[in-house]
Amino acid sequence: MSGTTTRIEALKQAIGGDVLLEGWLYNRRSSGKIEFLQVRDGSGTVQCVAVKSELPEETFARCAAVTQESAVRVHGTVREDKRSPNGVELTLKELEIVSESRDYPITPKEHGPDFLLNHRHLWIRSPRQHAVLRIRHTLVQACRDFLDRDGFILADAPIFTPAACEGTTTLFETDYFGEKAYLTQSGQLYNEATAMAFGKSYCFGPTFRAEKSKTRRHLIEFWMVEPEVAYATLDDVMLLIERFLEYTVGRVLEARRPELTLLGRDVAALERVKAPFPRLSYDEAVMVLKQKGQPFEDGNDFGGTDETILTEGYDRPFFVHRFPAAVKAFYMKRDPQDERLSLSCDLLAPEGYGEIIGGGEREESLERLVARIEEHQLPMAAFEWYLDLRRYGTVPHAGFGMGIERTLTWICGLEHVRETIPFPRLLHRLHP
Ligand code: 4AD
Ligand code: MG
Repeated sequence: MSGTTTRIEALKQAIGGDVLLEGWLYNRRSSGKIEFLQVRDGSGTVQCVAVKSELPEETFARCAAVTQESAVRVHGTVREDKRSPNGVELTLKELEIVSESRDYPITPKEHGPDFLLNHRHLWIRSPRQHAVLRIRHTLVQACRDFLDRDGFILADAPIFTPAACEGTTTLFETDYFGEKAYLTQSGQLYNEATAMAFGKSYCFGPTFRAEKSKTRRHLIEFWMVEPEVAYATLDDVMLLIERFLEYTVGRVLEARRPELTLLGRDVAALERVKAPFPRLSYDEAVMVLKQKGQPFEDGNDFGGTDETILTEGYDRPFFVHRFPAAVKAFYMKRDPQDERLSLSCDLLAPEGYGEIIGGGEREESLERLVARIEEHQLPMAAFEWYLDLRRYGTVPHAGFGMGIERTLTWICGLEHVRETIPFPRLLHRLHP
C-alpha cells in the first residue's frame, strides 16, 4: 500500500476522498457480514467499516482476524458520519497488517491501578491517558508562551546540585566523581542568579524529592515551571500568579475541550479561574480550620487534609500568604510587620485539590541570609556562590514554582497525580 498518509485528526477535510491511514487497531466489533475496526493513529480514532460483500475475500478475512493493537495500514474512502465523535468514518478498501500484536495485556475490561502502572508503556495508548497527556502538552506550551511573551528568558537550572534548596530531608544523594551531589529539588537558587542577569527569567524542568509519603499528591520526580523576577515583591508575585494561571487554564479550555469532556471534567469549574483570586493570611486560614473543627496546632504547616478542608470555602483558586517562617525554606524573607512570618504564598486549587504553587519574596540581605543558613544548619561553603548575589548588587526579588502534575490533576479532575506524567516515579515504583 502506498501514497501519502492522512492523520485521523485531518480526516474531516478529506470527506469524499480516498486516504491512507497508518496506525494500530484499537478495537474491533463484528456482525458477521460487516467488521467495524476502530483504528487509532495517535491523532485520533476512526471507525473503518469493512463490508464482506464489497471486498475481496482475503481482505475481509484479514479484517475479521486482525487483533487488538496490531499495526495496520488502511486504505479507504472518507464518509461524513454525524453520529461519530469526529464526524467521519471510513469505508475500508484495503487493510495491510504491518505487524501482528498477540494477547495485548490491556483489554477493554477493568484493570487495577497496579496492573495499569506496570503496563504504563502500553496504558498511554488508551483514550483517557491520551487525553490527559494531550492536556499536559497544552498546559506546558501555554506556560512557556505566557512567560516568553511577558519578557522572561528561559534559563534552565542544573539537575546535579551541590546543596539543598527545599530542606535536607527529601534530598536524593548521588556520587559525582567522588563528590556528593544531589538531584535538584527546585531551580530557584539558580533562577535568582539568572534573574539578576536578565531581570526576568524562568526554568522549566524535572525536580526530585525523596518524599517518603505515599499520597495522591506526591511524585518523586515532577516537573516545575519557576519564574523569578528582580525588583519584585510578594504582592507582585501574587499578581503574576493570577495572570499566569488565568492564561494557562484559559488556553487548555480553548484547545482541549474534547479531552476535558472525555475525562468527564466539569469545565464550568475551570471557567471560573478568573483573577483576582481570594487571599487569606495563614492566621486567617488557621481560624477557618478551627471553626470547622479540624484539630490543628498553631504554627504548623498544612497537611493534605487541612488544605482540602480550606478549599471548601472557594469556587476558584485562592492564596494563603505569610506562613510562619519556621515551616518555610531558609531563603524566605521575613515579614517586616511581623518577624515570625515569612513573605510567602501558596496557591491552592479548589475542589479539594490544594497546593499547586509555592512562592514568595527572597531574603536579599547578606547578613540575614548568612544567619538563616546557619540556623538551618546548611553547609555555608556550598552557598558561597548564592551569597555572591547578595554581595554584588542585591535587590528585592520574588518568584514562584508551579508543579505541572499537581496542576494537571486538578485541571483534569483526577483522583491521583500518577496519571499526569508519562512515566510516574512514585515511592517504590521505578518501573517501567
Ligand atoms: O512549594 P515548593 O516546594 O516550592 C519550591 O520548590 C520553590 N523553590 C519554588 C519557587 O519559588 N521557585 O514546590 C512548588 C510546587 C508545589 O506547589 C507543588 O505544586 C509542586 O511544586 N510539588 C510537587 N508536585 C508533585 N510531587 C511532589 N512531591 C511535589 N512537591 C512539590
Ligand atoms: Mg510548597
